[in-house]
Amino acid sequence: MSEKFYITTPIYYVNAKPHVGHAYTTIAADVLARFQKLQGKEVFFLTGTDEHGLKIQKKADEAGLAPQQFVDGISDEFKKLWKDLNIDYSNFIRTTDKKHIEAVQKVLQTLYDKGAIYKGTYSGMYCVGCEQFKSENELVDGKCPDHGTVPEKMEEECYLLKMTDIQERLIEKIEKNEFEIAPERYKNEILSFLKSQKLNDISISRKNVAWGIPLPFDLNQTAYVWIDAFLNYLTGLGWDGDEKNIPKEWPVDVQFIGKDILRVHATIWPAILLHLGIELPKMIFTHGHILSDGKKMSKTLGNSIATSDMIEKFGIDGTRYLLLSAGPFGQDIDVTMKRMIENYNADLANGLGNLVSRIIKLSESATKPDIISTNNNIIEGMKFDLKLSFIWSGIRACNKYIDDNKPWELVKNNKEEFENVILKLKRDLSIIANDLIPFMPDTAEKIKKALETKQVEILFPRIK
Ligand code: MSP
Repeated sequence: MSEKFYITTPIYYVNAKPHVGHAYTTIAADVLARFQKLQGKEVFFLTGTDEHGLKIQKKADEAGLAPQQFVDGISDEFKKLWKDLNIDYSNFIRTTDKKHIEAVQKVLQTLYDKGAIYKGTYSGMYCVGCEQFKSENELVDGKCPDHGTVPEKMEEECYLLKMTDIQERLIEKIEKNEFEIAPERYKNEILSFLKSQKLNDISISRKNVAWGIPLPFDLNQTAYVWIDAFLNYLTGLGWDGDEKNIPKEWPVDVQFIGKDILRVHATIWPAILLHLGIELPKMIFTHGHILSDGKKMSKTLGNSIATSDMIEKFGIDGTRYLLLSAGPFGQDIDVTMKRMIENYNADLANGLGNLVSRIIKLSESATKPDIISTNNNIIEGMKFDLKLSFIWSGIRACNKYIDDNKPWELVKNNKEEFENVILKLKRDLSIIANDLIPFMPDTAEKIKKALETKQVEILFPRIK
């Protein structure tokens, strides 16, 4: 039986249309999923949308639509974008799916019956943008640093989840990498947070948010959106909420998340699982944010880049390449349209595209059969950009090899040497195509076909 590999993206809020940050995580997850599949693993790749909560309720009101109608429209846009970006997910979970709702209610009842959830009151500052309570020291000038808004003061009767009794176990699991938080600096950040203070029990329900899953033991309250959301990672596998029926894909091998949602993923999420007696994820991998010209991309600043514009300009594989090559996956990356056009022309139009057309055109005069090599390299430690730069150094080397060996002269005066040069180039190009499969599946396919048929189309037309 082949080894399983389960990977997830965060589920995206449907308060607004998808943006390039969402595309970034999802493309990276798709690359890793495709790569693991090529290694022969049985891959399950889950993505989806997070559809409840105050933020979305407010947006639906503003749009003058019923919440369900509003979320249906935006969830469809995410699906369409993933189709446009050639994202090969196994399931797209929506938290408004009936089965998800039923499973969440079952879990809440279990936690309540176990005494992990109890009734109390909670007061604090709530940031609707984050859908999280914020402590004083998390605010800058009294505002949420991520959203630039003053959080709302809130005090209400609610249900709370016990955090205190899992803290030590959690620290131990993180330290032993049984629950691995990567890259390392994020592990250290979370450990120092967990060791510096006692975790407070957290509010897991809301009294005045109608757009949520009703608590089965108190129908006047709805579940806190993050509790609802975390459980997608299990319900997305078809889980019914019963701890005895854990799906075979569990525990999840890698969960990709952005740095802004690390804290909740490293505390509330494992707390739920520990209370339920379910194994923790093997790894949470945190990536950085996409910035534009050093600033967070935002519509207000006018520096935001629409994924649809990128696809139109650079094509699907061009977009996938440009986002993942822009910098290390664990760090913030800065992209601008100007730089992306330069990189597209240099790396794709000139680098790869040119190499393919040169080799195919030259090989029309060669007769020796092809040698198809297979590639077994590993995309280790999510170093997508490094892997790409490794592939591109191969592309540059091949282009240089052509310039140096001048096969167009060899074909006239040294036929044998010409054949050897072309053979080597074809072999190298086939290795390059294999390496590219997870990143640029269509392009890899086109290159392979070109090698077989000795016919070439322009892969990446230059952009002016
Ligand atoms: N719904 C929650 C996640 C629940 S998971 C159980 C959420 N949604 S979100 O739509 O706001 O963000 C989803 C992901 O997109 C997060 O990982 C976040 O880090 C990521 N990004 C949001 N803006 C981003 C950039 N500018 N760049 C890269 N990723 C960004 O949080």
